[in-house]
Amino acid sequence: MKKLVSMLCALALVLSMAGCSGKESKGVSGTFTGTAKGFGGDVTVTLTLEDSKIVDCTAEGKDETQGIGSVAIEKLPAEIAKNNSVGVDVIATATFTSNGILEAAKSALTSAGLNPDDYMTVGGGEVKDASYDADIVIVGAGGAGMTAAITAADEGKTVIVVESQAMVGGNSVRATGGLNATKTAAQDKNEFAENAGVEKTLNTAATTYADNAAITELAKTVKAQYDAYLLDSSDKGYFDSVELMELDTMIGGKGINNFELVKTLCENSADAIDWLASIGIDMPSVSSFGGASVKRIHRPLNDEGKVVSVGAYMIPLLEKNMTDRGITVLLETTATEIMTDGDKVTGIVATGKNGEKVTVNASAVILTTGGFGANLDMVASYQPSLKGFMTTNAAGIQGQGIKMAEAIGAATVDMDKIQIHPTVEANTAALITEGLRGDGAILVNAEGKRFVDEVGTRDVVSAAEIAQTGSYSYLIVDQAMVDASSVIAGYIKKGFTTEGATYEELAKALSIDEATFAQTMNDWNACVDAKEDAEFGRTSFANKLDTAPYYAIKVSAGVHHTMGGLSIDPTCEVLKADGTAIAGLFAAGEITGGVHGANRLGGNAVADFTVFGRIAGDSAVKYVG
Ligand code: FUM
Repeated sequence: MKKLVSMLCALALVLSMAGCSGKESKGVSGTFTGTAKGFGGDVTVTLTLEDSKIVDCTAEGKDETQGIGSVAIEKLPAEIAKNNSVGVDVIATATFTSNGILEAAKSALTSAGLNPDDYMTVGGGEVKDASYDADIVIVGAGGAGMTAAITAADEGKTVIVVESQAMVGGNSVRATGGLNATKTAAQDKNEFAENAGVEKTLNTAATTYADNAAITELAKTVKAQYDAYLLDSSDKGYFDSVELMELDTMIGGKGINNFELVKTLCENSADAIDWLASIGIDMPSVSSFGGASVKRIHRPLNDEGKVVSVGAYMIPLLEKNMTDRGITVLLETTATEIMTDGDKVTGIVATGKNGEKVTVNASAVILTTGGFGANLDMVASYQPSLKGFMTTNAAGIQGQGIKMAEAIGAATVDMDKIQIHPTVEANTAALITEGLRGDGAILVNAEGKRFVDEVGTRDVVSAAEIAQTGSYSYLIVDQAMVDASSVIAGYIKKGFTTEGATYEELAKALSIDEATFAQTMNDWNACVDAKEDAEFGRTSFANKLDTAPYYAIKVSAGVHHTMGGLSIDPTCEVLKADGTAIAGLFAAGEITGGVHGANRLGGNAVADFTVFGRIAGDSAVKYVG
């Protein structure tokens, strides 16, 4: 119907230009629509034109990712209308959807009989510098920044958040897995853990880390706890402990983590779950993730009880909590410098959207700009072996906060420790969550064979995958897994999957040997029955992969997390090389180093930004007084 209206309007235009309407007109007026491909499906743009000028623009795209593409749908049309232009900047964190919107808008112009090339100029306007005052300025509106902002606002301080991108969320909005937490009520509602995971971890501690004092001490404590648990014949609930989470995190980090930061993370993890629940963010589902001895990752569910992406769920709710508290967020405002007076920080200088200088005077600065995983030059400069890898990171994750802090004397740690994630979709660099493997998926190589414990730590799984033919693998799930997860349904919708009604059909579609693949699947199902994987030592099992149809996603390794960053203490103060704090400067989240050592466990990033975001907010409040 809209198309018909567009055609009639265009016809009216032609007639009016030909002088047949009897009415003088200088240009096109009316409503015109255009459609183009976004990320999840089609996006449709409706332009209202008056005298060939775009005066209104709306967009629809119900299949675009919540919290990412949906932000482009919400914001970009206003920019198109404001500038009378289809040459406006894309939203850097949602390029597929943004480009779809711009293409659809061009198509709408074409259907109006206009030339989109005439609408590529973006109008100027007077640019004015701006200055703000606040108790605390937070740089970066990802998970850590928003958590710190909410905490500080709740403790009565005025807070301004600056964000370089056009939307909040940073890398956090892309987080798919969940939040690791130990000794939680949600864990107790789950079945007993498979004990083999704890035993395997104690064995690793005794064999690989016998020389590491922190790991050996933790393993001793965990063994005593675990023995007591096994002896206890009462209804003892789920086995986990703060020390077991610490042990997993230290082993995952190859023993080089800053143990005080690890303790802070794990001791505060259950409280993080409770705090999130208190502000309307619930994580009731508990499951397995790489490198965790027991089920510890907490995930949100939708109204149908299906698992949903943690970032896409959390970020809009954190944003709402900021809005409810009246916290000012300056978007498209890139901090460039931390101001100081003597030894103290006094705020930040930033560049606004139109090149204007933005100054925020504040008694404390919290840096939450994330790591540098999207700055592939910086990645390669610290880790040359990663040159040419794709990245799962949002465009704004450029390491800018680290550089600003270094300019005023901050020290960094572990900058060469950069994580690659083994399941990144080859064409789009979209992260395919480790949660699928925790929930029962397996990886097979080009020969149709498994090659690793899929729920091992990411460094190990990535290295094993890189060693396979072509350095890629296929992640295999069945229909039962699809039915339980809206995340996998989203992957299917985005065209990431190849499908087969039988194991042989799927193998054929992937051009891998049918008999070998079918044998691999049958062998795996037998492992699930026996709860034993003699070949690769996997200890986490879910359901058999025996509900047709079957799906494969071709995946390979991509840069995912930068473990190194600013040196902090457990109160989130940023430290200089001599170990003293920079007065008034705090940091939390991926911008910091030391928490995850040489390799982060999946689920520990969301735990990190929530735990340390709260601590940074609280410490800044105490500092401001
Ligand atoms: O695979 C994932 O869902 C990633 C989670 C994480 O990096 O914590």
